[in-house]
Amino acid sequence: MTAPSPELEQQFDATVARKDRIEPRDWMPEAYRKTLVRQIAQHAHSEIIGMQPEGNWIGRAPSLRRKAILLAKVQDEAGHGLYLYSACETLGVTRDELTRMLIEGRQKYSSIFNYPTLSYADVGTIGWLVDGAAICNQVPLCRTSFGPYGRAMIRICKEESFHQRQGFELLMTMMRGTDEQRAMVQESVDRFWWPALMMFGPPDADSPNTEQSMAWGIKTHTNDALRQKFVDMSVPQATALGVTLPDPELRWNEERGHHDFGQPDWAEFMRVVKGGGPCNAQRVAHRKRAWEDGAWVREAALAFAEREAAAQQEVSA
Ligand SMILES: [Fe+2]
Ligand SMILES: [Fe+2]
Repeated sequence: MTAPSPELEQQFDATVARKDRIEPRDWMPEAYRKTLVRQIAQHAHSEIIGMQPEGNWIGRAPSLRRKAILLAKVQDEAGHGLYLYSACETLGVTRDELTRMLIEGRQKYSSIFNYPTLSYADVGTIGWLVDGAAICNQVPLCRTSFGPYGRAMIRICKEESFHQRQGFELLMTMMRGTDEQRAMVQESVDRFWWPALMMFGPPDADSPNTEQSMAWGIKTHTNDALRQKFVDMSVPQATALGVTLPDPELRWNEERGHHDFGQPDWAEFMRVVKGGGPCNAQRVAHRKRAWEDGAWVREAALAFAEREAAAQQEVSA
C-alpha cells in the first residue's frame, strides 16, 4: 500500500477535531477502519445473539399483551443488527464475512448474552438493566466520528428507550403482585446486576484500546465513566421498584456526588468473553444453525436478482 498524502491525513485529523463525521468515501487510516469494523460488527452480533435469551420466552409469555410487547422488542433487535451490519458493510466487508467470523468465533459479541434466562422476570430485568446499560453505552455513540455508525445509533437509541421502559413496567407490575412474583424479580435482579456492570467492558486501566478510540472520536466516554453513570441511574430506579441491588459496597458518596460501588468478578468476565460462559456454545451453535437453514433463502434471492437483471438488460437491448 502506498503512503497516504499528508493532505489526506490532515483532512482526516481536522474532521475528527471539528467533531464532524468521517464518511465511507473519505480517506481514513487503516487502523481506524479496522477498529470500526471490529466494534460495529461486535455490536451487530450482540443485537442478533441478544434475540436468543428473550426469544426463549416468546412462546411462554403470560398474556397476549406481554407476548406482543416481547415480540416487538425482539424484532427491534433484529432491525438493530441489520442497520449495524449495513453500516459495517460501508467499510468494505460483507455481511457474509461478518457472519462467518461470528460463527467461527473470530469476532465477539457482548458477554451479557451468554447468561441464561431462567424465569419470566428475566424479560423485565433484561429490559430494565441490559437495555438500560446499552442506552448508557449507545447514546454517546450517536455522536461517534463515523457517519453511518452514528446515524444508525440515533434510531437504535430511540427504540432502546422503549425496551428499557417495557422492562421496568413489567417488573413494576410483578412487584405489585404476589410475594412469589416479588421474589422472582429480586432473584432475577440478583443474577443480572453484576453481568450488566460488565457490559461496559474492563476497568479503564485494563482497556488498552480506549485511548486511541477516544482520540479518533469513536468513543467519547471511558468504560468506568459509563459504568458510574449507569449505577447512578439505576439506584433510584431500584428504590422505585422496591428491589435491592446485590452489592454491599453500594452507597452514595456525598463528596464525589456519585455512588460508590463494588467491582464485578473480572475473572468471570474474562472467562465468559473467551467462550467459557454458561451459554456461549449454545448461542453460537443456534446462530450457525439459523445461518445454514437460511442458505436457500439467500440463494433464491440471489438467483431472482440475477434473473431480474438479465431480463432488464434484454428489455433495454
Ligand atoms: Fe438493540
Ligand atoms: Fe434493546
